[in-house]
Amino acid sequence: MRLTVIGTGYLGATHAACMAELGHEVLGVDVDADKVAALRAGRVPFHEPGLAELIERHTASGRLRFTTDYAEAGAFGDVHFVCVGTPQRADCAGADLTYVDAAFAAIAAHTRPGALLVGKSTVPVGTAGRLARSHEAEVAWNPEFLREGFAVADTLRPDRLVFGVESERAETVLRAVYAPVLAAGTPLVTAGFATAELVKTAANAFLATKISFINAMAEVCEAAGGDVGTLAEALGHDDRIGPKFLRSGVGFGGGCLPKDIRAFAHRAGELGVSLEFLREVDAINMRRRDRVVELARELCGGSLAGTRVTVLGAAFKPDSDDIRDSPALDVADRLRLAGADVTVYDPAAMDNARKAFPRLGYAVCVEEALRGAGLVLHLTEWPQFREIDPEQAAAWVDRPRIVDGRGVLDADRWTAAGWQLRAPGRPAPREEG
Ligand code: UDX
Repeated sequence: MRLTVIGTGYLGATHAACMAELGHEVLGVDVDADKVAALRAGRVPFHEPGLAELIERHTASGRLRFTTDYAEAGAFGDVHFVCVGTPQRADCAGADLTYVDAAFAAIAAHTRPGALLVGKSTVPVGTAGRLARSHEAEVAWNPEFLREGFAVADTLRPDRLVFGVESERAETVLRAVYAPVLAAGTPLVTAGFATAELVKTAANAFLATKISFINAMAEVCEAAGGDVGTLAEALGHDDRIGPKFLRSGVGFGGGCLPKDIRAFAHRAGELGVSLEFLREVDAINMRRRDRVVELARELCGGSLAGTRVTVLGAAFKPDSDDIRDSPALDVADRLRLAGADVTVYDPAAMDNARKAFPRLGYAVCVEEALRGAGLVLHLTEWPQFREIDPEQAAAWVDRPRIVDGRGVLDADRWTAAGWQLRAPGRPAPREEG
């Protein structure tokens, strides 16, 4: 089939490449000429494992092309996927639909008769219906659940597909698009527009709630002398709860969970439904950042002023260079504002971090970051940080003190190597000698 994918950010670039991988002819569309030029040359403007290879392969074969021209896209495609961003509005009241509305209007002005417009962006419930009423072409909604770092695998082998459709024809077209994915046994849920839109926001709200739940338990553990790591392990053995998304620490960030729960609570409020608990989910999450700063201050005897602090991690999670709402950088900047001399190192997100936080210091490797440090904070759980040898690291730093903001370092091992280690929600390990 001939598909277009409008918007070539994280979601769009991945979707375009994966649709080509499924055998379709794909035209990616973006208003940003620089992005299009980079993608045409097979360059991916962000870090996503496996994506560059796919784009390179399919641009070389001619199955995947990119353009800035909506007229070309309209003439080319049978199905148009809209994958543009829905950022948080500047007034914090809900999602900004400017790009979604503009993309639908631009492509609808050029579509051929019978074309299907498919929204994939995360939108407030009611958007698909509104767009269907305002454009002649048929609309469907097909929310996307990909995780950064696993975007290609999540698109080619998703947990489920959700089709928000209001006609049999739209469902038939989407079934044809995803035929190989469905043939592999992927569950399909078909629904009306409202339910399909809600699946996405509800899924993100649930995940955020799960993380904030365990982080609230971390607060209780801190007050009562418990260990949230052990608590989460024990909870996770209950099949009804499961172990995933129970990693307690500095909390969640990124381009989706924080903004999506705010937009969802706002939209529910417009519909007369109170989702106030999501405000508390957000508040618990932000309190974890305060707690990590507090632990840093405690380890430094009450004041961070003049302390040379190393922050390991800048991306909001490992295997990503995305720093949107990154807890690591937020904490790093708070430490700087508290008077610390902060150096950051991240395996992938350095360029993005430097641009967004030019006042922080940056090192080119773990060793350079650690040399001379008076305090270390571990804030993004990259595997290479977990592999740091605590004895070697103790020799590099000035004072062996560390806050494990992700709660994944082996506290006994670090303590045995002479480190003072603190982790949110976990009792301070007994120090040697
Ligand atoms: C999320 C959803 O998982 C995905 O389905 C949706 O399409 C987009 O939003 P993503 O933002 O890529 O994906 O990251 P995710 O893996 O969900 O992690 C989000 C944040 O939660 C990260 O900052 C991560 O470090 C944090 N997290 C995750 C925890 O703090 N604890 C956990 O147990 C899991």
